[in-house]
Amino acid sequence: MKLPFINKEALDKITAQYPTPFHLYDEKGIRETARALNDAFSWNKGFKEYFAVKATPTPAILKILQEENCGVDCATEVELMMAHKLGFKDIMFSSNNTEGKEYRYARQVGAIINLDAYEDIAFLKEEAGLPEVVSLRYNPGGVFALGTDIMDNPEESKFGMTKEQLLKGFQELRDQGVKTFGLHAFLASNTITNDYYPVLARQLFELILEIRDQTGIKLDFINLSGGIGVNYHPEETANDIALIGEGVRAVYDEILVPAGLGQIKIFTELGRFMLASHGLLVTKVLHRKTTYRTYIGVDASAVNLLRPAMYGSYHHITNMDKGENAPKEIVDVVGGLCENNDKFAKERQLPVTDIGDTLVIHDTGAHGFSMGYQYNAKLRSAEILYQEDGTARLIRRAETPEDYFATLYGFDFEK
Ligand SMILES: Cc1ncc(COP(=O)(O)O)c(C=O)c1O
Repeated sequence: MKLPFINKEALDKITAQYPTPFHLYDEKGIRETARALNDAFSWNKGFKEYFAVKATPTPAILKILQEENCGVDCATEVELMMAHKLGFKDIMFSSNNTEGKEYRYARQVGAIINLDAYEDIAFLKEEAGLPEVVSLRYNPGGVFALGTDIMDNPEESKFGMTKEQLLKGFQELRDQGVKTFGLHAFLASNTITNDYYPVLARQLFELILEIRDQTGIKLDFINLSGGIGVNYHPEETANDIALIGEGVRAVYDEILVPAGLGQIKIFTELGRFMLASHGLLVTKVLHRKTTYRTYIGVDASAVNLLRPAMYGSYHHITNMDKGENAPKEIVDVVGGLCENNDKFAKERQLPVTDIGDTLVIHDTGAHGFSMGYQYNAKLRSAEILYQEDGTARLIRRAETPEDYFATLYGFDFEK
C-alpha cells in the first residue's frame, strides 16, 4: 500500500488556501533521503551527490539539498545560471549536443565539464579552452543486463563515447594539459534493484584499471550518475540505499583498493531517487462521465505530469476523501487536454469518486513539474513546500494568462 506523506486534515488546509492543481513537496522526506544517501556512501572520503537539476529545477528544493551537502548536476546554461545564483560551488555540467556559449559559461561558474562525445574535446578546446578537470561519458554499447534481465540498450543511446574513444580522449586531454580526470556512465533508468549501481561500478572500476594500464592515467572520480529508481507501483519494493552503498563498497574494495586506487572519489547524479517519492500532484475532481468507460475528469492534466502520457508510466492515485474500505469502481482518470493520452490512470480500481474530491497522484517530485508544457494554453501550476514544521510555503506561484502572453509580439493582453 502507498500512503501520501500528508494526511487529509493537513492537506485540506492547504487546498483551502491554494487552488489546485499544484505540486506539493515534503521537506522532511527530502532531507531524510539526502542523509540516507550520504550515510550510505560515507565510507568514500570524496563522495558527493550532484542532484540532477532537470528533475526538480526549483530553488527552494535545491537549497534544501545544498543544506544537506549536495551539489548539482546541470545540463543547460539556464540550469547553470540557477545553480550559480544559488551559490552552489559543486556543479557538474553533464550536457550533450552543447553550444559553445554553454561551455564558456560552465567554465565561468567553475562547473566540472563532463563531455558526452569524443568530438566534444576539440569543440570545447576551440570554444572555451580546456579546463584542468575534465570528465568523459562512457557508453559500452550492447545491452546492459543484470543477470538475464535486460535493463537498457546502451547501443541505441545517443549518449556517451566508446571505450576506444575514451582511451584516446583521456590521452589527448592529458597531452594538452588537463590534470584531473573523471569517468561517467548512465546505463539504465529507474532501476528497481539494489544491484544496478554495484554492477555498473564493477564495469567502471575494471575500465579504470584498463585506462591506467594503457595510458598511465589515474582517474580522480567516478560518476555513477542517475538511474536508481523508485517504487511507483505499490507492489514494487523500494530500493535500499544503504545496501546499494555497501554493494558499491564491496566492489571498490575488491577491485580498486588492491590496485592502489583507493583514493578514487564516487559521485552520483541522482534525480528521481532523491525527489520522486517526496512530491505529490494534488488535483480536484471536476467531472464524471460514462460512455464505454467511466472517466474521472480532474483539474490537472498531462501538462502538469507528462510521464503517464509520454511513457505510459504508472503513478499511484489516492482519493483523500474516501476511506480504504469505500466501494470501488474501475475508471480512467483524465485531464482536460485535447489529446486522448491525457490520462493519469487507465482502467484503474479506485474508491467511487465524487465531484469535488481531492486526489493525490504519487511520486511526482522528480521529472514531474519540470517536464511540464503549455499545450492547449494550459498554465503551469504552483509548487508548494510542506515544511518540516507542518506549515505550507508557496515556492512557485501558478502561471497567469499574462505569463502565457508575455513573450508574444503584436498581441497586447491589456487592450
Ligand atoms: C546526465 C543525467 N544525469 C542524471 C540524471 C538523473 O537521472 P535519475 O532521475 O534517473 O536519477 C539524468 C536524467 O535524465 C541525466 O540525464
